[in-house]
Amino acid sequence: MASSPMSTIPDTGNRVAVIGCGRVGSTLAQRIVEKNLADVVLLDIVNGLPQALALDLLEARGIERHDCQIIGTCDYAETAGSAIVVITAGSPRKPGMNRDDLLQINAKIVVEAAKNAIAHSPDALLIIVTNPLDILTYLAWQATNLPPRRVMGMAGVLDSARFQTFIAMELGVCVRDVSALVLGGHGDLMVPLPRYSTVNGIPITELMDTVTIERLVERTRHGGAEIVELMQTGGAYFAPASSTCLMVEAILKKQSRQVPASAYLQGEYDLNDIFIGVPCRLGCRGIERVIELNLTDAEHEALKSSAESVRQGIKKASEMLKN
Ligand code: LAC
Repeated sequence: MASSPMSTIPDTGNRVAVIGCGRVGSTLAQRIVEKNLADVVLLDIVNGLPQALALDLLEARGIERHDCQIIGTCDYAETAGSAIVVITAGSPRKPGMNRDDLLQINAKIVVEAAKNAIAHSPDALLIIVTNPLDILTYLAWQATNLPPRRVMGMAGVLDSARFQTFIAMELGVCVRDVSALVLGGHGDLMVPLPRYSTVNGIPITELMDTVTIERLVERTRHGGAEIVELMQTGGAYFAPASSTCLMVEAILKKQSRQVPASAYLQGEYDLNDIFIGVPCRLGCRGIERVIELNLTDAEHEALKSSAESVRQGIKKASEMLKN
């Protein structure tokens, strides 16, 4: 039987399934193949969309000079054998909505997508990108029954990248010299940590006054909303796709990177049975370690408040899913 490169990826070596072909999913697919990281299977429920995007990406291949295959499909069977499943499916935020408003819409979509994808790739690592991130990561973990280390949410890398950007802009220094850290849930209660955010080793608390730092912290907390307000027709996608791609690369290349990610906690930071953003060692086996930092009382309280709001969301979503 003749087969086109669009319908078949012959080798199941490095394959990443991207579920949901909106702007985050399609930009992520582009980043993965243009970095030559893995073959990509793009899946969406809208027939024609993933096929069109895959063909469009393939047609750029001769110019971008990468060797990755891309297929677009509506059939989960074609995602089989993926090393990583990334779920971006769901509705994005509209102006005025917070991430929790999306819960009702996105909980069912993500749970179904996770179950279907993992049924065909039982050994995969699962990265959730859809909002509300930490809640949906928990639901996807429950629905798939995967070991917790193989399930994670992408948000800490993004929130930290935003904080890093704002620090560099404020100080007028090269962004590569800035390292920033944001913990907590991916929501308005996230916890940017100025004490652990540095410019080449110097904490920003030595370089800026507290009023300036607080302004940057607030801007980081509302970084996603700032873009939604400007765009009016959707949310951010370049930085979310870059952040997810960093995690995909860390896993595929066995890099053991130390990044904040939404990970399952079992007592760390005095939190239990919850997914929330914490610094992790991320490598080919998933979350290899959760790193516990010494937090001040105020930082710990802020993390606990953020966790409480994630917990309420999990409760709400679990009830919704029962009906
Ligand atoms: C944001 C969305 C992806 O923060 O949550 O831009």
